[in-house]
Amino acid sequence: MSEAHVKTQIEDLKTLLNQYNYEYHVLDKPSVPDAEYDQKLHELIKLEQEHPDLRTDDSPTQRIGGEPIEGFEKVQHRAPMLSLGNAFNEQDLRDFDRRVRQGVGGDIHYVCELKIDGLAVSLLYEEGRFVRGATRGDGTTGEDITNNLKTIRSIPLQLNQNITLEVRGEAFMPKASFEKLNQTREQEDLEPFANPRNAAAGSLRQLDPKIAAKRNLDIFVYGAGLYEGKNIGSHSESLSYMSELGFKANPEWRRCTSIDEVIEYVNGWVERRSDLNYEIDGIVIKVDSLDQQDELGTTVKSPRWAIAYKFPAEEVITQLEGIELSVGRTGVVTPTAHLKAVQVAGTTVKRASLHNEDLIREKDIKIGDYVVIKKAGDIIPEVVNVIEDRRTGDEQDFNMPENCPECDSELVRIEDEVALRCINPKCPAQIREGLIHFVSRNAMNIDGLGEKVITQLFNENLIQDVANLFELQRDELLKLERMGEKSTDNLLHAIETSKVNSLERLLFGLGIRHVGAKAAKTLAEHFETMERLQNATLEDLTAIHEIGEKMADSVVLYFEKPEVDQLIEHLRQVGVNMEYKGIKRSEVEDVDSPFNGKTIVLTGKLQQLSRNDAKAEIERLGGKVTGSVSKSTNLLIAGEDAGSKLTKAEKLGIEIWTEEDFITELNN
Ligand code: IVH
Repeated sequence: MSEAHVKTQIEDLKTLLNQYNYEYHVLDKPSVPDAEYDQKLHELIKLEQEHPDLRTDDSPTQRIGGEPIEGFEKVQHRAPMLSLGNAFNEQDLRDFDRRVRQGVGGDIHYVCELKIDGLAVSLLYEEGRFVRGATRGDGTTGEDITNNLKTIRSIPLQLNQNITLEVRGEAFMPKASFEKLNQTREQEDLEPFANPRNAAAGSLRQLDPKIAAKRNLDIFVYGAGLYEGKNIGSHSESLSYMSELGFKANPEWRRCTSIDEVIEYVNGWVERRSDLNYEIDGIVIKVDSLDQQDELGTTVKSPRWAIAYKFPAEEVITQLEGIELSVGRTGVVTPTAHLKAVQVAGTTVKRASLHNEDLIREKDIKIGDYVVIKKAGDIIPEVVNVIEDRRTGDEQDFNMPENCPECDSELVRIEDEVALRCINPKCPAQIREGLIHFVSRNAMNIDGLGEKVITQLFNENLIQDVANLFELQRDELLKLERMGEKSTDNLLHAIETSKVNSLERLLFGLGIRHVGAKAAKTLAEHFETMERLQNATLEDLTAIHEIGEKMADSVVLYFEKPEVDQLIEHLRQVGVNMEYKGIKRSEVEDVDSPFNGKTIVLTGKLQQLSRNDAKAEIERLGGKVTGSVSKSTNLLIAGEDAGSKLTKAEKLGIEIWTEEDFITELNN
C-alpha cells in the first residue's frame, strides 16, 4: 500500500470514529453497535503502529491514554477563570435581579443552567483542533491536563469547523461510574473517594492518562470565548453554537424572561436533582445578552452578570464526642468538635470548627451532646445547634485551657479579640503552621510539600525555619514515609524552581501579620526589592494608597526584629529571589502614553482584539480599566453596539474613542 493511500485510509477512519464517538457520547444516539466501533478503532491502532509518523494528536486512538508524564506544566489562562457569587434563597435571587436592572437598561433575559458538581476546565482549540486543556487552578494559572482530558469521549478532538476558540466547562464523574469505581477500590483495599467531584478531580490529576481513561469521565461545556468568526449576541446563542460545533452542552438549560420564571426553574430542580445521573449543587443564572454582560462587567472575583444559586445545605444529627484544640500560624487557639462520623452532602464528617470559646457558650455546646451538623456553602462542616431534648445529664461542660496545648506557655486574650492566643514565638505549632503557609499555593507554591511532609520534616528536626527548606538533601527526603525516588526528585525540583518566584510570593509566605496576598503584591510593586522594603519607614508605607496604618505598623515591626534580618539573609544565601518581577510601578509611571494614570472604561464589541488583551495593553501603558462609567472616568473606548455606558459618558462629557482611535494610539 502506498504511503498516500495509508494516509487517506487513516484520515477516513479518524473521521468515521470521531463521528461514532460524537453520536454515542454527545448525542447519546449511537448509530453502530459497539463491536463495530471497536473493530474500526483497532484497524486504526494497527495502521498507526505500522506508520507512527502518520499518528496525529487528534486521533481517536489518543483517547486510550498516552505515555505517563513527569508533572503538569503550568498554564496561564488567556482570560481569568472567574468564580461566581452565591445566592442561597429567593430573596438573594431578587436582589441579584435588582442589581442587574440597576446596572443596565432594557429588557433582561436570563439563562438558567444546572450547576454541575465537578471540576472547571478550559479547552483550547486552534484551527478546529483540540490543542490544550487545563484546570482552573487559582483562576489565573492552571495545570495542563490535555492528555487526561483527551480520554473524555465527549470532548471533541476535532471540531466540524476549523475555528480557534476556548471553551469552558465542568468535567465530572457520573453517579453510576462513581459507585462502580468505589466498589472496585474497596475490593482492592484502596480508600474510596468521598464524592464524585473528588473522584473526577483525582482522576484528572493523574500523571498517567491511562488511569483517567478508565474512569469514565464526562463533560458539559457552559461558556465560550469566541476569538474569531461568528457574531454571537447572547449566551443562549453561544450554547446552541457550541452544540453545533460538536460540544456537549447540558440540555436542561432554559431561557427565562423574568426573575419569577428563574425562581420557578430553581424550585423545580430542588425537587428533581436526585433524578439526574450526575450531581449538581445548584443552578447558575446568567444574563443572556452579551452586551448587557459586558456592561455589567465583573468584580475581581466574579462576574456581576451571573450568580450561583446553591441548594440548601443538608443537615444531619450526630454526637459530639470531644473537643480538640489546635494552634494556628498566628498563635490563635481554635477548638474543633470531634464528632461521631456521619455522612453530610456526600462526604464523611468527623470534625467541625467551633471557632472560639464564645461560640461554644453561645450555642451552649457540651461534650456528649447530640448536635445538628451542616456544611456551610456545602464545604466546611459546622455545628448548627444542640438538641437539648436528647441530653441525659452526663454531658460535660467545656472550658478553654489557660496554657498552650502545644508549648504550655500562658495564653492571652488580646484586646478586642475573642480568640485566645499563644504568644510564644518559639511555639512549635506556630512554626509548623507557618511552614505550611510558606509553601502554600498563593505563597511559594511548592508542589508536593503538603501538611504531612512538612510535619514529618519538622518533627524529624530537618527544618526549623523556612530557609532550611532550600537546604534539604535528597537522602534526607528519601527517608521520609511515602517518599519514593520520583516524588523526592519532583519535590526537589519544585523547591528549586520556587527560588525564582517574584518577591510578592515570598512576602506573603513570610506570614507578616495583616499582609495578605494582595497587600504583598502592592508592597512588592512599590518597593521592588526586599532590601528597600526592609528599610521602609512608616511614612513610606502609609504613603501608599492601599496600605493602611495597621498594616504599615505591622510591616515595620516585623522587619525590626533581628531574627527576621537573619532569616532573610539566610534565604538570600540559599538563593531565594528577593526582587519583584512583574510590571513595576516606576516603569509604568515613566511610560509616555495617553493612558498613563487614566481611568478607562471599555464598552461594546471590539473587533480587533479581545477585551482582555485591550485591558492588558492599557495597563501595560499605565492606565487603569474599570467596569462602570462615573465622574472619575477619563476615557471611554467604545466598540460596536455600545449601549448605556456610551450614553452616560456622553452625558458626563467624558472623552470618547472608537476602537480605531485606540488601535492607532497603540501602534504609536
Ligand atoms: S459559569 C464566570 N456555569 O461553578 C462564570 N459555572 O463558581 C463561570 N459550574 O468554577 C462559571 N456548572 O466550575 C458556570 N453551568 C455552569 C456551571 C458552572 C458548574 C462551576 C464552575 C465554576 C463554579 C462557579
